[in-house]
Amino acid sequence: MPAKVNSVALFGLECRYVKVEVDITFAIPKFFIVGLPNKAIDESKERVRSSLKNAGFEVPRAKVTVNLAPADLKKEGTFYDLPIAMAILLASGQLKFSEEINSAVFMGELALDGSVMPVHGVLSVSTFVHQEGENKILYVPFKNAVEANLVEGQEIIPVKHLSELVSHFRREARISVCKESIDIFKSTNNENIINFSDIRGHEQVKRAVTIATAGGHNIKLSGPPGSGKTLIAKAIPGIMPDLKLNEALEVTRIYSSAGMLTHNLPLINRRPFRSPHHTASGVSLVGGGASPRPGEVSLAHRGVLFMDEFPEFPRTVLENLRQPLEDGVITVSRASGSLQFPANFILVAAMNPCPCGYASDFSQACTCTPVEIDRYRKRLSGPLLDRIDLNIEVPRVKFEKLTDDAVSISSQEVRLIVGRCRSIQEKRFLNEEIVTNSEMSSRQVRKYCKIDNQTLIFLREASLKLKFSNRVFFRILKISRTIADLANERKIFQEHVAEALQYRSQK
Ligand SMILES: Nc1ncnc2c1ncn2[C@@H]1O[C@H](COP(=O)(O)OP(=O)(O)O)[C@@H](O)[C@H]1O
Ligand SMILES: [Mg+2]
Repeated sequence: MPAKVNSVALFGLECRYVKVEVDITFAIPKFFIVGLPNKAIDESKERVRSSLKNAGFEVPRAKVTVNLAPADLKKEGTFYDLPIAMAILLASGQLKFSEEINSAVFMGELALDGSVMPVHGVLSVSTFVHQEGENKILYVPFKNAVEANLVEGQEIIPVKHLSELVSHFRREARISVCKESIDIFKSTNNENIINFSDIRGHEQVKRAVTIATAGGHNIKLSGPPGSGKTLIAKAIPGIMPDLKLNEALEVTRIYSSAGMLTHNLPLINRRPFRSPHHTASGVSLVGGGASPRPGEVSLAHRGVLFMDEFPEFPRTVLENLRQPLEDGVITVSRASGSLQFPANFILVAAMNPCPCGYASDFSQACTCTPVEIDRYRKRLSGPLLDRIDLNIEVPRVKFEKLTDDAVSISSQEVRLIVGRCRSIQEKRFLNEEIVTNSEMSSRQVRKYCKIDNQTLIFLREASLKLKFSNRVFFRILKISRTIADLANERKIFQEHVAEALQYRSQK
């Protein structure tokens, strides 16, 4: 009789149950793993064999066949070591099958000495096992336990070593259920974030950044070198509202599948701020690879993706941004089909107005030719620029202003304003599946962004004059909605639309 234990297959953030079956027949000693395993699982043979031996168990001198069922499911990752070892111990009679094992789910990589090593994606697995609702107990590597335990109501057993797990089922020494949890609302350390009050001048830029953050709109900052673009972008996390619990779990699942959580950082409870370099590879930006990993666009989910030197990014990467900017998800294709990762972020792009950087500067002359400037700007395609709602000039602040004592609004104050604006949106979209104005579909724009006739004529004329596409027309209405919300107005007035247009028309 083959022995069977439960495990889970993970694809991106999606899970399915897998049965790990082991059959031992008395024939020439050989070890097979079948069921479309990838190379990592093949290598797991060696790890399983050594860890069984070094943990003091017997490696069967027979033909051992391991099947990961269903066989047509492509499995990835290294976490089948532990279930394979358990199934071998059962099949060879070194451990007795019990109801407890029947309702257990195992995952974990084995080191050669039998220690159980941490794996990626545990939070997604734990969420899945809980949602399946069969009261199964999840056995995870000790170092992943706190992460797995974030799922309320899911019983987690942390395992340090294979022999410890065997003693547990033999009822010689029991491992206790994980009780360790973390306070998700624990205040986070904001010391390293730039405060708005430390940025001199730039009142209009701060206003635009506030609108972008409040409504989840994308923003492009353009200005000469040293004018403070990077400084402003880095201040954005400080004005964003805290993540809600469900959002924090959603973001954490992404980091979990990227293998970026540690025992000390099992939960992402802060809005992400990602600033990939323009030389980073396409896969690291959009995601993918043989075992698909989320890219920067997904790691920035519910936070900010800051792309400094925007036109320097390869064209393919910039074009790949179009889907997440429109839909809030990214589709990663691979040989065995495609899968999706969430990618709903605020894009903050920064660029110089021309290759030398001084085209718009008041004190230094630009040395670029018109052709060079034109070529530089053409790196950003029309459809991509369409999706950027606010275009802001960041001029160099004059020296007098840099050193004056004028008191500027602080990040804490702006955060309250943004928070109030987000609550208005939350109430508005109570029965919709979105949270911010920027996510509205055209149907929702028609429903929630009504304007009077006079304002409509004003907007139509401006759109014709500035040659806006239909997408831009809707996007302007969304920004107008956010501007009206910031003013705590139910109705969108012409002044709100006028302000939205002003950000749109800048280059
Ligand atoms: N408005 C400003 N207020 C305070 N410091 C500024 C301002 N503008 C520039 N700086 C200073 O200049 C440095 C360079 O700014 P940075 O944001 O890196 O410029 P950019 O990204 O536009 O090239 C910052 O680290 C900051 O110390
Ligand atoms: Mg910079």
